[in-house]
Amino acid sequence: MVRFAKEEDLQRVNELRKVVNDVHVEGRPDIFKPGFNEELRDYIYDIWAADNKDIIVAQRDGVICGFACLQYVDKPESPFTNARQFLDVDEFAVDPAYRRQGVATELITFVREEAKRRGFARVELNMWEFNESALAFYEAVGFKTYRRYMEMDV
Ligand SMILES: CC(C)(COP(=O)(O)OP(=O)(O)OC[C@H]1O[C@@H](n2cnc3c(N)ncnc32)[C@H](O)[C@@H]1OP(=O)(O)O)[C@@H](O)C(=O)NCCC(=O)NCCS
Repeated sequence: MVRFAKEEDLQRVNELRKVVNDVHVEGRPDIFKPGFNEELRDYIYDIWAADNKDIIVAQRDGVICGFACLQYVDKPESPFTNARQFLDVDEFAVDPAYRRQGVATELITFVREEAKRRGFARVELNMWEFNESALAFYEAVGFKTYRRYMEMDV
């Protein structure tokens, strides 16, 4: 079952956010800071308080085993682009003990429904290229790459 988080869920959500942070630190130690510092921990309360953001959690047998942080983006028209509205998935993870059981798929189904309910045409997210299992998951549920960040060492 997937639902919007309650304030008392946020500590557990932070345990899962640390999992995401660890994945990023392991994959790109040159970019991500190790550990899960107080500022990062407290950031969940900013997300909680923001009008244009939501936190959702997946539960199995009463245990919160996955989460996502959502942002409702409303970009005005610019000289280059048309106005765009979309739901952006900012942070996303499932507890390692609950993986490959469809938990993340259930979260994405909820996200799509919420996007539809709000009249958005699209769900977007960005991810790091090293994260092959996340890419395999996102592609399995139907996401397609539409833009790339590139780099080279000098
Ligand atoms: C990516 C992640 C969210 C997937 O969660 P999950 O609950 O295990 O995913 P599901 O069980 O819904 O998987 C659905 C399908 O996605 C694909 N998939 C999921 N994980 C995969 C993996 N590690 N390797 C290859 N394919 C995978 C499979 O096709 C899977 O179907 P199957 O199990 O019947 O083969 C989870 O591995 C995770 O939390 N990773 C660490 C955090 C992270 O990287 N978050 C994203 C940051 S941007």
